[in-house]
Amino acid sequence: MSLEASLGDLPNKGIPRHVAIIMDGNGRWAQQRGKMRVFGHKAGVQAVRNAVSFASRLGIEALTLFAFSSENWRRPESEVSALMELFIHVLGGEVKKLHKSNIRLRVIGEQSRFSERLQQKVAAAEALTANNTGLVLNVAANYGGRWDLLQAFQRVQSDMDAGLLESSQLNEDAITSRLTTAGLPDVDLLIRTGGDHRISNFLLWQLAYAELYFTPVLWPDFDEVAFSEAIASFASRERRFGCTGEQIRALLAHSG
Ligand code: IPE
Ligand code: IPE
Ligand code: MG
Repeated sequence: MSLEASLGDLPNKGIPRHVAIIMDGNGRWAQQRGKMRVFGHKAGVQAVRNAVSFASRLGIEALTLFAFSSENWRRPESEVSALMELFIHVLGGEVKKLHKSNIRLRVIGEQSRFSERLQQKVAAAEALTANNTGLVLNVAANYGGRWDLLQAFQRVQSDMDAGLLESSQLNEDAITSRLTTAGLPDVDLLIRTGGDHRISNFLLWQLAYAELYFTPVLWPDFDEVAFSEAIASFASRERRFGCTGEQIRALLAHSG
């Protein structure tokens, strides 16, 4: 890509176009309160609502949330099934509100391992919101970055077998356009809550040039102030906006 073309992709006014979040720390949040881990996951749902609403009002194009990794099946059966129930419940309860807010919902990840009921809910929610033009909300569920690359390579292979792709056309775009995030800009800002400094097999290809932001805040406590701080940090790293979290919130107040 030419320098001009890549500069053209840079986010406007320090606002990232694509934000990805590893929503970590629910279990510890609950344990600190002497509660079961599931209590933390339930509390995390409100933080998801806040983050989606904030991203949407800020004019971010895409928000990708890591909800369940391909490795999270290793957790106790009781926690996994509680999480699945929570997804079904939240999806059913939120989709109308998302649709009203012009948000396009996509669930990325290997869905074949989900119950029939959950798969149907997901398909219905995606279909309902498919033509919305506001924020693209990707929920990564049973997602792994290596899996995403693998399924892209498999699609390359089958498109080659079908004569739809020549080996001379195998370039970066051929991979990017077959990832689950096809059509979206690369991630500009990755946020991880919960204090750990790792990627945990989240988006790999898409994070190539992302700014990484780690905060000790546990996911259920991640509110608009915390999200603003992350955006402000991104903006200052861009050296374009250099503003504070307060200014980001003021910007939002004026644009709203
Ligand atoms: C993140 O919180 C949510 C999921 C992985 C589903 P955790 O459940 O990993 O919380 P901690 O890291 O144990 O505190
Ligand atoms: C990453 O959190 C996955 C999600 C937030 C869904 P984990 O808690 O599963 O990550 P590790 O195990 O600490 O790397
Ligand atoms: Mg964790």
